[in-house]
Amino acid sequence: MNFNLTTLIRPHLLNLKPYSSARDEFKGQAEVYLDANENPLGSVGDGQYNRYPDPLQAKLKFEISKIKECDSSQIFLGNGSDEPIDLLIRIFCKPGIDNIIQLPPTYGMYQVSADTNGVDIINVPLSEEFHIQKEEVIKSLTPHTKIIFICSPNNPTGNIINKDDIVEILKRAPCLVVIDEAYIDFATEKSFINELTNFPNLIVLQTFSKAWGLAGIRLGMAFASEEIISVMNKIKFPYNISILTQQVALRALSKVGQKDKMVSKILKEKEWLKEHFNEAKYVLKVYPSDANFLLVKTTKGKLIYDKLVEKSIIVRDRSKVQLCGDCLRITIGTEGENLALMRAWEELDI
Ligand SMILES: Cc1ncc(COP(=O)(O)O)c(C=O)c1O
Repeated sequence: MNFNLTTLIRPHLLNLKPYSSARDEFKGQAEVYLDANENPLGSVGDGQYNRYPDPLQAKLKFEISKIKECDSSQIFLGNGSDEPIDLLIRIFCKPGIDNIIQLPPTYGMYQVSADTNGVDIINVPLSEEFHIQKEEVIKSLTPHTKIIFICSPNNPTGNIINKDDIVEILKRAPCLVVIDEAYIDFATEKSFINELTNFPNLIVLQTFSKAWGLAGIRLGMAFASEEIISVMNKIKFPYNISILTQQVALRALSKVGQKDKMVSKILKEKEWLKEHFNEAKYVLKVYPSDANFLLVKTTKGKLIYDKLVEKSIIVRDRSKVQLCGDCLRITIGTEGENLALMRAWEELDI
C-alpha cells in the first residue's frame, strides 16, 4: 500500500490559515478576560455560559483518551459523528473529481454528505448475507477514490463486518478507510481504535448517541493519526462543542459502569425480542445483530409498518432499501416497550 496523506488532502487546504480564536491565542490563566467580546455580566437564564468553550476540548479529550486507550492528539470531537463524516469528505474530496466508496445497504449520511459536497459515490453492495465483498471493493478503487466508508456494526443490517476483510482493505487501499463504529459498544468484537498505530490510513468513528444514551447532547468522536486530526481541527468551526455538551459528557465519562449496565440490559432485551420474533407470524428472518436493533424480514414490510403506526408504535421501514426488501429495523426498547411491540404484533391481521 502506497499511502501519502499530503497527496490526498485537497491542495488548497494544505496551506490554509485557520481562524485564530481568542482562546487559541491566549491559553493560560488570567484575572481579566477582555479578548473575546463576551458578556462580562453573566448569562440570561440559569447557569454561567457567558464564556466561549475550549475550542479543542482538552479536558474532555483527556478523559476519553483514558477510556479508549489512545492519545488525546488522536481524537477529534464533533457535533455528532455526522460532523466528522462531512468534514472528512470536505477535506479530502474535490467536488466533481474525487469519489468515495460505500457499501450499501448502509448508513445514509455518507451519501448525503457526498451529495451535498458534489462528490461522486461508488457503491459496492454487501453480499446477500451482508458480508463485505473485499475483492470488489479493491477492484472498484480509482485514482480519485479518497475514502472508503465501512460501517461496522452496519446500519441497517446490524452485523459486524469481518475484521480480517477490513484489515486487508486497510493494507491494500491507498486511500483513507473510515470505520464507523457507532454501535461497537453492543458488539463482542473489539474496536479498531487499537489498530491506529498499524494503519496511517485508518479513521474510526464513534458516538455518545447510542450506548451512552446521549443522542441529545450531539457528541461524536473520530480517532485517527495526529496528522489527520490536526487537519480536521484546522477546518472545523472554532467552537464546535458547547460548554453544556462538554460538561455533560465529562460527567458521563466518570460513570462508565452505568453505560455498561445499560448495554447489558439492552442486550438481554435484544435476546428476548429475537426469540419472540423468531416465533412470530409474518416474520421470514431475523438477521444476526451486533447492535442495539434487529433487522427483521417480514412478509409485508410497509403494511406491517403502517399497522404498527396505527397502534402508536414506530419502527423503521427499510423495505425500499437495497437488499432489505420487506425489512423493518427495530430498535431495542425498554422491557415494557418490547412487550407492547410483541403484543401489537400478535394482534396484527393482514
Ligand atoms: C452508523 C451510524 N453512524 C453515525 C450515526 C450518527 O450518529 P451521531 O448521533 O453521533 O451523529 C448513526 C446514527 O444513527 C449511525 O447509525
